[in-house]
Amino acid sequence: MSQQPIQYAVDLIRTARNIVILTGAGVSKESGVPTFREAMHGLWAKYDPQQLATPYAFRANPQLVWDWYEWRRGLVREAQPNAGHIALAHLEHLHSGNVLTITQNVDDLHERAGTRSIIHLHGNIAQNKCFEACQGEPTQIDTIDLDDDGRPPHCPHCGGLVRPDVVWFGESLPVQAINQAIEASQFCDVMLVVGTSGLVNPAAQLPKLAAQNGATVIEINPDTTPITPIAKVKLNGTSGDLLPQMIAVLEA
Ligand code: APR
Repeated sequence: MSQQPIQYAVDLIRTARNIVILTGAGVSKESGVPTFREAMHGLWAKYDPQQLATPYAFRANPQLVWDWYEWRRGLVREAQPNAGHIALAHLEHLHSGNVLTITQNVDDLHERAGTRSIIHLHGNIAQNKCFEACQGEPTQIDTIDLDDDGRPPHCPHCGGLVRPDVVWFGESLPVQAINQAIEASQFCDVMLVVGTSGLVNPAAQLPKLAAQNGATVIEINPDTTPITPIAKVKLNGTSGDLLPQMIAVLEA
């Protein structure tokens, strides 16, 4: 990639006071966490993630969905932040304005890279909650006894099933997280959108909201997405490659 679009993106970022970084699965892909829209390998190859990540799938077959999340949790535990996560954390610390990361990712790779100001729109895969939300949404469960046979555990309050504390297809987002994300999107001068397909609402609406309120949208993605037409700068490539280049220009 020539320096020109990167330089332009960095100039926009440098002069901004309020920056929102919106991230998706593409950022964690280079750490070995598969996105939902690519074929899975090995044992899980015959399943469609979009069919597994639903309350209907969990009700129909809790063991299958629990096992799939245990597999994904293992991938996340073994994964390390990549150059893209590290560059975004640098941006937060380098910039004199406000930099807020809004992520759709349920892993903690941004935090492990050093990002401090972050909203998780779709929950946290390392946490669990009661499927019945017996004490209100979310009924978080801090410690659970996993049976030796790996069966999904039961809620200590109501005896119902325990599930991962993530947002599934067809479910609402945590109210505080989405409200803060909407407010920050309306208020920012620059929104940097990285590694998201822009297909899943309401997160996909945030760049549009930002643009409608006068923000400049910068997109980093190797593919064209529904966000591309509203992006003032589109950087075609991977986050692990392009974000460190942007930081190098910013620091120069
Ligand atoms: N760098 C940047 N972008 C990448 C890279 C990379 N290395 N690799 C892939 N991408 C892009 C893809 O081109 C795609 O546009 O990342 C995007 C990933 O798309 P999705 O898998 O749809 O991820 P995301 O947009 O985060 O999905 C939103 O839907 O899958 C559910 O709940 C899940 O939070 C997720 C939500």
